[in-house]
Amino acid sequence: MSARPNSLAARDGAYHFHGYTNALKNEQEGGFVVTRGDGPFIYTEEGKEYFDGLSGLWCCALGFGPQPRLIEAARRQMEILPYYHTFTQKVATPTVELAEKLVGLAPVPMSKAYFCNSGSEANDTAIKMVWYFNNALGRPQKKKIIARNKAYHGVTIASGSLTGLPAVHADFDLPVPGILRTDCPHHYRFAEPGESEADFATRCAENLEKLILAEGPETIAAMFAEPVQGAGGVIIPPATYWAKVMPILRKYEILLVADEVICGFGRTGNWWGSQTYGMTPDLVTSAKQLSAGQAPIAAILINQPVYETLRDHSNRLGSFAHGLTYSGHPLAAAVALETLRIYEDLDIVARVRALAPHFARGMQAFAGHPLVGEVRQIGLVGAIELVRDKASHASFDSKLAVGPNLVRIAHDHGLIVRPVVDSICFCPPLVSTEQQLDEMFARFGKALEETHAWLRREGQV
Ligand SMILES: Cc1ncc(COP(=O)(O)O)c(C=O)c1O
Repeated sequence: MSARPNSLAARDGAYHFHGYTNALKNEQEGGFVVTRGDGPFIYTEEGKEYFDGLSGLWCCALGFGPQPRLIEAARRQMEILPYYHTFTQKVATPTVELAEKLVGLAPVPMSKAYFCNSGSEANDTAIKMVWYFNNALGRPQKKKIIARNKAYHGVTIASGSLTGLPAVHADFDLPVPGILRTDCPHHYRFAEPGESEADFATRCAENLEKLILAEGPETIAAMFAEPVQGAGGVIIPPATYWAKVMPILRKYEILLVADEVICGFGRTGNWWGSQTYGMTPDLVTSAKQLSAGQAPIAAILINQPVYETLRDHSNRLGSFAHGLTYSGHPLAAAVALETLRIYEDLDIVARVRALAPHFARGMQAFAGHPLVGEVRQIGLVGAIELVRDKASHASFDSKLAVGPNLVRIAHDHGLIVRPVVDSICFCPPLVSTEQQLDEMFARFGKALEETHAWLRREGQV
């Protein structure tokens, strides 16, 4: 397959080096150019329609159609003040209002909001805050950070080091030293035979404590964790996991940074995933749905004790010498502020809760399929994991690339979903209708049947 000469697709292949893309394939085939959107659907140059079952990159809570209120908010801000920064106490109006709004919405009492432009930057900045915090407290050795297998916290040098996916490290010389890795709380994949969810959660917590004791609690600063591990394959922790992990972190004075970059703003059926799972973070990182994916912005929420330490140390040193040209950019802040107002006007959490049972039924309808090992979902995010053997949970040979092949077939049927190995991830816009979700599942069902037929032909099932 190659793009028509001079098409946007061909020009993309000629001039554009993409992230998370096989560069040679893009050069040869051209890019997949999206020209417009409408609700959960996107359209290509050729006018072909796709249901984007991942809300872009887990971010477009309001879908892809024009949002008059966001257009107006952006236009108004560009007319009034297109740029101002946040260094040396300066700030633009919507940035102040957004900080106030976010502190008010926080999952646990929080003191301040700090702005970045992406989830990766927010997590990098949170690492720096945690290090600065411990230096301020005279604990220069308390610096290591715990993250979990299959975590996704970004791709920059530090946040990419927290990410627990080998592909993100390979040949980028990551991770940097000082990152500790603990269990991924995925019962279906990692439980011992016969181990209950509760016992598995206990074992994860015990392993975490063993790791802390082996390394020395006085050397560990923080644990970073997503409430639901999204890009690792939508991994939903056992119900008792956080109740068991939280006291261990508290016991050893290890800060919890909840990475709410996917879960924040309604995705799991609460404003925050931390609320869904009983996490009490010291810092929260957020991005993506903060602006419904329509402007690049991220926020860190910081609790009062951590903030006070950062504040007093900034006073000692003269300033908190960290900041980005576009931290709290007024255009992005205005769009984010209006996005949050739209969520409130839509009562987005109630809406997600009302739609979630329909989403769950649609997902679970595939549970009996011979290729499906596990169906897992919470709120409006989930995954369907394909296996070679349902009884033993045995996976397919990775060389078969079953998940990626299913996703390619789904693409031909006008559905965009994400494979994480053989787990197919779903994260539709929060404003999808029941009929639209039915359409998404109908397209997925066709792809699943064709994948099954292909595997039968290959003698794999
Ligand atoms: C949980 C989580 N944290 C951080 C990031 C990184 O965000 P960004 O791609 O905006 O740097 C992502 C991106 O998918 C994410 O899912």
